[in-house]
Parts: sequence; C-alpha cells; structure tokens
Amino acid sequence: MNRFVVVHGPNLNLLGTREPHIYGTRSLDDLNQLLRDRARALGVEVAIFQSNHEGEIIDHLQKEAPGSAGIVINPGALSHYSLALYDCLQALGLPVVEVHLSNIYAREEYRSRSVTARAARGVIMGLGFTGYELALEFLTRQ
Ligand code: DQA
Repeated sequence: MNRFVVVHGPNLNLLGTREPHIYGTRSLDDLNQLLRDRARALGVEVAIFQSNHEGEIIDHLQKEAPGSAGIVINPGALSHYSLALYDCLQALGLPVVEVHLSNIYAREEYRSRSVTARAARGVIMGLGFTGYELALEFLTRQ
C-alpha cells in the first residue's frame, strides 16, 4: 500500500486555539483524523508528524520519507526562511505538496515568500483543512 508522509511544522499543534479567526477552531487532532479518513477512502497510508523544531522535522523526513510515495507538508513559519528544510526536501527527490491553511499572499508581506515551496510540485493555500485533503488526493494520482 502506498505510504505518504504528512508533516506539520511549528505552532500547528496549537490549531483550534491559535488565532482562530485565521486558522479556524478545529484542532490538529481533528485535522489528523480527517487525513486518516481520507487516506482510508483513497486506499493509502499516512504517517503523520508534528514538531516545533526545524532539526527534528529534517531528521524525521530523512528517516521516514525515503520509500514513501510523497510528502504533504505545512512548514508553518519555516516556509519563510528555512533553507535547511528546502535542501532536505530537494535532497529527498519525492513529490511534495506544500500546504498553508491561510492564504499567505493575503497576509503580512513577510509571509508572501516561501523558500520551501521551490522544492514542491505545488502549493495549496487558503483552503483550510480541505487543502490537505486535496494535496493527498493529488499525490495519490502521481
Ligand atoms: C501557515 C502560514 C505561516 O505564515 C505561519 O507561520 C503558520 C501557518 C498556514 O498554514 O497558513 O504557522 O503555514
């Protein structure tokens, strides 16, 4: 069965209470449940990981992503500056979809640039939880 790696970056553990007017009122557990349900319906497996630490995310990707069929990642604020995460995603050479819950172009100027997105096949933003479902569905079609 195809396995996909899902990574949630810094502060996404606070979903539900963190700026709910931007990120909504549903929790990370709710999102992960939605992803597991979606994966089941698509007949694939998802391995889900969240960390607030750049190095931990990179270690996790280096260990878990090889052999998987692709990566869904919301790098959170790391998107805007982490060349180390960009390098990691490039090195893995797997199809990547970057997801943002909010539309990063419609927010502060400093959020409108993603350095990690250059390693992605595509980016889905502003669609909330639905963006993750669409990202997974896209990857299953590759
Ligand atoms: C985010 C957008 C980032 O700018 C922010 O730092 C996040 C969440 C989003 O999902 O909209 O942590 O990636």
